[in-house]
Amino acid sequence: MRALTIDHSAPGHLTLREVPDPEPTPHQALVRIHSFSINHGEAAFVVPNGEEGTVPGWDAAGVVVRAAADGSGPAAGTPVVTLGAAGAWAELRAVDTDLMGSIPEGADLGAASALPVAAGSALRGLRRLGPILGRRVLVTGASGGVGRFAVQLAARGGAHVVAATSDPAKGEALIRLGAHEVVAADALKDIAPVYGVIDVVGGPQLVSAYDALAPHGTLVAMGHSSGAGEDFPYGALFGDGGRHDRSLTTFFLMDDAEGLGADLEWLASLVARGELDPQIGRRDDWGRTGEALAALLGREVAGKTVLDIRVAAGL
Ligand SMILES: NC(=O)c1ccc[n+]([C@@H]2O[C@H](COP(=O)([O-])OP(=O)(O)OC[C@H]3O[C@@H](n4cnc5c(N)ncnc54)[C@H](OP(=O)(O)O)[C@@H]3O)[C@@H](O)[C@H]2O)c1
Repeated sequence: MRALTIDHSAPGHLTLREVPDPEPTPHQALVRIHSFSINHGEAAFVVPNGEEGTVPGWDAAGVVVRAAADGSGPAAGTPVVTLGAAGAWAELRAVDTDLMGSIPEGADLGAASALPVAAGSALRGLRRLGPILGRRVLVTGASGGVGRFAVQLAARGGAHVVAATSDPAKGEALIRLGAHEVVAADALKDIAPVYGVIDVVGGPQLVSAYDALAPHGTLVAMGHSSGAGEDFPYGALFGDGGRHDRSLTTFFLMDDAEGLGADLEWLASLVARGELDPQIGRRDDWGRTGEALAALLGREVAGKTVLDIRVAAGL
């Protein structure tokens, strides 16, 4: 099969070349990949630091060509959305059946491929907040891949959504996605208290967002796209002034894979019904993955980037 492999001598650290087909374990299905999406962490860390010759990639969608030998997961011919620690940027992928969900027949595989890391994290991060119906939830980095899903899912969950962005030009798009308020990223000090925060930016925004938490509120520290450290002023973690029992919790999607396949299936069904917009800001041929990664890091893409695999003759 052909795959994008880490090649530190190539521009963008990637080469498209022939590699051996993956060998599925008994609990894995073999999937022909049609499309994959890329994430900030892959662009910033995985590709520049990856092991030479390995096939990166977390998110992909395709069609099962061989079901898992242990009988778990979908049958051959089923369209699926898949997640894994590596191997998505290839024509074939061996995937744990716990980390895949069926996609409705005829749905756009590219749209589904945008889901696993970004929408999966948004969904599971929001669950960490507990019940959000009728409560104020702040999403930082709201215009990014995770942020756009978090805004939509929080609104769907009945929250009053406050979207923070450093780019005011994106405010209208965030309102259309379901945000009730859009605030400037550097003005978080002025917002009314929030019950929960999904933070993907870190640095000073996390510190200000924590300060905006109401009593018993929770901040989920999910991402660090600012690259900045968090410097809490003395007293920030006191529970005085009535602001008791506030939590700051870290999050890593792959720490707890239980139920992820079912979550991906639900998210894909929402997309297929037009109830969740994957916000694809760039869609390209997989031969241009290097450029797409650079554009993502350069903050040139509004939302998710999807790459489509041209099927080679004979496959
Ligand atoms: N822990 C996990 O399991 C997990 C899962 C998914 C993602 N993440 C992390 O979450 C973060 C966001 O992921 P993503 O896919 O949403 O990334 P993304 O599409 O690049 O969006 C990140 C957003 O952060 C905001 N931002 C503020 N300062 C920034 C800066 N200096 N550079 C870049 N962006 C900046 C921007 O939004 P505004 O312009 O609206 O401010 C940007 O759109 C990343 O750090 C990623 O690694 C972690």
